Amino acid sequence: MKELRVELGSRSYPIRIGAGLLGDAARWRDTLGGRHVLVISNEVVAPLYLQRVTAGLGDRTFSTLILADGEAHKTLDSAAQVFAALAQLKASRDATIIALGGGVVGDLAGFAAACWMRGIACVQMPTTLLAMVDSSVGGKTAVDLPQGKNLVGAFHQPRAVIADTDALATLPERELRAGCAEVVKYGALGDAAFFGWLEAHADALLARDAQTLATAIAHCCEQKAGIVARDENEHGERALLNFGHSFGHALETAAGYGTLLHGEAVAIGMCLAARLSARLGRASAADAERLTNLLQRFHLPTELPPGSDAQRLLELMRLDKKNVSGRLRLILWRGVGQAEIVTDIPEASIRAALKN
Ligand SMILES: NC(=O)c1ccc[n+]([C@@H]2O[C@H](COP(=O)([O-])OP(=O)(O)OC[C@H]3O[C@@H](n4cnc5c(N)ncnc54)[C@H](O)[C@@H]3O)[C@@H](O)[C@H]2O)c1
Repeated sequence: MKELRVELGSRSYPIRIGAGLLGDAARWRDTLGGRHVLVISNEVVAPLYLQRVTAGLGDRTFSTLILADGEAHKTLDSAAQVFAALAQLKASRDATIIALGGGVVGDLAGFAAACWMRGIACVQMPTTLLAMVDSSVGGKTAVDLPQGKNLVGAFHQPRAVIADTDALATLPERELRAGCAEVVKYGALGDAAFFGWLEAHADALLARDAQTLATAIAHCCEQKAGIVARDENEHGERALLNFGHSFGHALETAAGYGTLLHGEAVAIGMCLAARLSARLGRASAADAERLTNLLQRFHLPTELPPGSDAQRLLELMRLDKKNVSGRLRLILWRGVGQAEIVTDIPEASIRAALKN
C-alpha cells in the first residue's frame, strides 16, 4: 500500500492506494469518526463491493443507501434521499458517510456530507480510475442541474481516500479509457515527463497491468494533492486542473448527461483547447497533435461530435464556474506540460474552435 497526504493543516488527510484495501478494514477503519456510518453506493457497484466494506464496519451503527446508476442521478433529488437516510440513521455531527463508487457517487455523497448538519466526515472509496485519480481527491463536491453540470456544490475535503486498485478489474473498458483521459490531463497540464511515461506505458495501462495502474494513480494523486494543498479553493493554480473541462462540460451538457462520458468529453475538450492554443500561436501544432495521438492510443474521441452546435456550446460555456465578471476564462496551453489560465480570448476564436 502507498500512502500520500493532502496537507491542509487540521484538515489534512491520507490517500491510501493499494490492492485489496476495501476488504482489509484494518487499513481504513481508523478514518471513521463516531458511531454512525452511512455507506452510499449504486446499483452496479454495491453487488460487487458493498459487502467487503460493511463487513469491516465492526460495531458501528450503519445503514446503506443504494442509488440508481449514472450521471443522470447526480441530482438534488438523490441528495434528498441521502438526507432522508441520514435522518433515519439518526446521524449526528460525528457521523461518517462512506462514498463507494465512481465520481458520481463520490460527488453526490461529498455534497450531502458538506450539507448535513453543516458538515460531517466523508471517506471516499473510489472504484473507477477517474475517481481514483481525480474526483475523490480535493474536496470538490456537487450535484447537477438541468441548466448545467456541478452548479450546486461545496468545497468539502474528505476525511480519507481509500483507493483499492483491485476494484478496477470489473470496470467496463469504456470507463477505463475515460479515466485515462484524466490521467493524460495531468501530464498535459503540468508534467511533461509523466506525459512521456504515458506514451511509453499506454498499452500496459489499457491492459490493466497492476503495477502500471498503481504507479499512474499514485502519480496523479501526488500531483493533485500538491495543487490542492497550495490552492484549495481554486483562486489560481487549481484552475489548471480544469484543462479541457470548459469545452468538455459544455459538450457533456449539450449531449445530455450520460451520453458522452465525462472523460470522453474532457478528451475532446483538451484537444479543442490545444488546437485553439496552436491557432492563437500560444502552443505548437505538433504538441497539439502529440496530445491527440496519445488520447487516440487510449481509444478516446478527439473531435467534436457530428452535428455539434457551436453557438449552443458557447452559451453553455458562459455558465462555466471559472468565468469571472461575465468574461470567459479558459485553460489554454503552451505545449506538453504547460497549461495556463487565459481570460482575453475573443469569442469569435472560441466559436471557431467549436466548429467541426
Ligand atoms: N469532484 C471532482 O473534483 C471531480 C473531478 C472529475 C470528475 N468529477 C465527476 O465525476 C463524475 C464521473 O465519474 P466516473 O467517471 O467515475 O463515473 P461514474 O461514477 O458514473 O462511474 C462510471 C460507471 O462505472 C460503474 N462503476 C464504478 N465502479 C465500478 C467498478 N469497480 N466495476 C464496475 N463498474 C463500476 C458505475 O456504476 C458507472 O456505471 C462526473 O459526475 C464528474 O463531474 C468530479
